Amino acid sequence: MSKKNRSLWIQTKKTRGEGFYKKIPKIGAVFYEKLMDSDMIKIQTEEIASEILSKVDNGKILDIGSGPGILLKRINEINPKLNLYGLDISKSMYKRAKKNLEGLEIELILGNIMETEFDSNYFDLVTCTGSFYLWDKPIESINEIHRILRNNSKALLFETYTDYDKNKFKESLTENMKKIKLHKRPVAKRLLKKQLNITYTVKEVEKILKKSLFTDSFSIEKIILSNLPVWLRISLCKN
Ligand SMILES: C[S@@+](CC[C@H](N)C(=O)[O-])C[C@H]1O[C@@H](n2cnc3c(N)ncnc32)[C@H](O)[C@@H]1O
Repeated sequence: MSKKNRSLWIQTKKTRGEGFYKKIPKIGAVFYEKLMDSDMIKIQTEEIASEILSKVDNGKILDIGSGPGILLKRINEINPKLNLYGLDISKSMYKRAKKNLEGLEIELILGNIMETEFDSNYFDLVTCTGSFYLWDKPIESINEIHRILRNNSKALLFETYTDYDKNKFKESLTENMKKIKLHKRPVAKRLLKKQLNITYTVKEVEKILKKSLFTDSFSIEKIILSNLPVWLRISLCKN
């Protein structure tokens, strides 16, 4: 990436990062939730939920950047025995999740993953979808995941990356847009492309993890979610 593009990338990331979400108004959170209400996201949620549930069938799971709580709701439907927690920096998202998860035994916390009040060695699994790329202090936040995760447990982060295969993406995007209502397509497309532009490259993710407490116990795999070849499965193992 050229110096100019790099500085542009940093600027964009700053204005679209955790600070942006922290201040997102109620209408922004409602808009986000409406946009997520599509077959494309339903398939993605199903795939992530089934992967998480194949790793743990009891204990405590934390979803970082839980947004409106869609993933937590689905996991609870499949396995109500699990103790589920959602953490989000945005008050508007937190309130949406409270509403969507009303009556369910799911604990929602308003806060930043950089520093939480959870006990050490608390969670049996930590996950997040499309949130890590927004964190202002990624190394400190990854180290916080290390602290709150139980020994011999895993964190599974599902994140998009910016150096994806553009040709494969183009092919699958056209197919995928058919799973979104016609009037939502232009915005969904624009937001997805914006996200892909400001997420990390695989090398950048690797660099961050190498500097964290998971330095020699992580893996990064390129995966397809909901037919889109733009995702990474970042596995962090606490030994
Ligand atoms: C793109 S949304 C993804 C929401 C949800 N995971 C989903 O897949 O629909 C990113 C979420 O991460 C949250 N977030 C960003 N930075 C955070 C941080 N440092 N700690 C906790 N949550 C954060 C935002 O408020 C937002 O709800």
